[in-house]
Amino acid sequence: MTNVALVGCGAMGEIVARTVYPALGGLVAAIDPDPARAAAVAELTGARPFTSLARARQEVGIDAVDVRVPHHLHATVVLEALGAGCHVLVEKPFATTLADGRAMVTAAEESGLVLAVAENYPHMQAVRDARTAVRTGVIGEVLALRSTRAYQVGGVWVRDGWRHGTGPSGGILLDQGTHQVSLVRCLGGPVRAVSAAGGADMVSLTLMMASGVVAQSLLTWSSPGPADQAEATVIGSGGRLDVLVDYDADGGGCDIWTPGGTSLLGKENYYDSHRLMVEDWLQAISSGTEPVVPGNEGLEDLRVVLAAARSLDEGGGFVEVASTEGS
Ligand SMILES: NC(=O)c1ccc[n+]([C@@H]2O[C@H](COP(=O)([O-])OP(=O)(O)OC[C@H]3O[C@@H](n4cnc5c(N)ncnc54)[C@H](O)[C@@H]3O)[C@@H](O)[C@H]2O)c1
Repeated sequence: MTNVALVGCGAMGEIVARTVYPALGGLVAAIDPDPARAAAVAELTGARPFTSLARARQEVGIDAVDVRVPHHLHATVVLEALGAGCHVLVEKPFATTLADGRAMVTAAEESGLVLAVAENYPHMQAVRDARTAVRTGVIGEVLALRSTRAYQVGGVWVRDGWRHGTGPSGGILLDQGTHQVSLVRCLGGPVRAVSAAGGADMVSLTLMMASGVVAQSLLTWSSPGPADQAEATVIGSGGRLDVLVDYDADGGGCDIWTPGGTSLLGKENYYDSHRLMVEDWLQAISSGTEPVVPGNEGLEDLRVVLAAARSLDEGGGFVEVASTEGS
């Protein structure tokens, strides 16, 4: 069994500790500078609580590190873990700068350790069904694509104050933008250029796909929404499909409409994908296979989002994604 340390026992760390690790086993250390949070996760899982990864490594054998800390700390923790010879699963956004993201990918390549990104969409059945339908021509030629993530953020998600605004963690563009870019890339392929309008807590993106298709993404943290939202729609010459995402119950799925009829594939809860991501990472470690979302895929999502950030700074013009390569 792989001995895992959970680094970051805040809102997301607590969810995976409560819903994922009890069934999988293997969680040996719960790490957070806030001792009460580390202790709470330790109590849920039987892991030992620590206030730093360095201290935990002195006392427990650790093979792999699951990183759930604020965005601007991802790179520091990931590089420390890889440097210590541990496999890593890191939350989205992969990093907050391209230099950090590249350093993380290089460190994993040079060490031969598994570096996976906890990006949900490529793991979700609804997205996989939608991608298959698009690729097999079920809705004809793809004409346009849109994605929306509109919800009201509050409660535990904002209690430490780093998520909102223009601080080092990157606001909604890095927090939800990387998710939406991943979703759009799953359905429409690579992104060539992007323009952005809005601000720290509401952003609208226009994405020029390499295929020539235009995609739009709208992100806001200020809107109440129904549980099962159409988070993406693909409009085709022969029909359309919606990716429904349910954060509360099992109403997620892929809803396909063609002149011949409709079908709703799958029934899932968004949080099912958190279990799938950890299982995939542990499987990649034990079998030597590549995870579904390796570091370089997280880096690709980041590259698009940082091009969008540059567009926002420069007044909303299109920025070629490749032009961010040297930055
Ligand atoms: N994929 C998803 O659906 C999803 C949902 C929510 C959050 N997230 C991601 O999870 C990560 C954490 O978000 P959150 O909402 O849980 O934040 P949070 O603020 O609730 O928790 C972060 C925790 O990290 C701890 N921490 C800070 N520095 C640390 C360090 N050096 N070592 C160990 N712990 C440290 C903090 O004390 C805090 O308890 C972010 O990357 C976020 O984007 C992903």
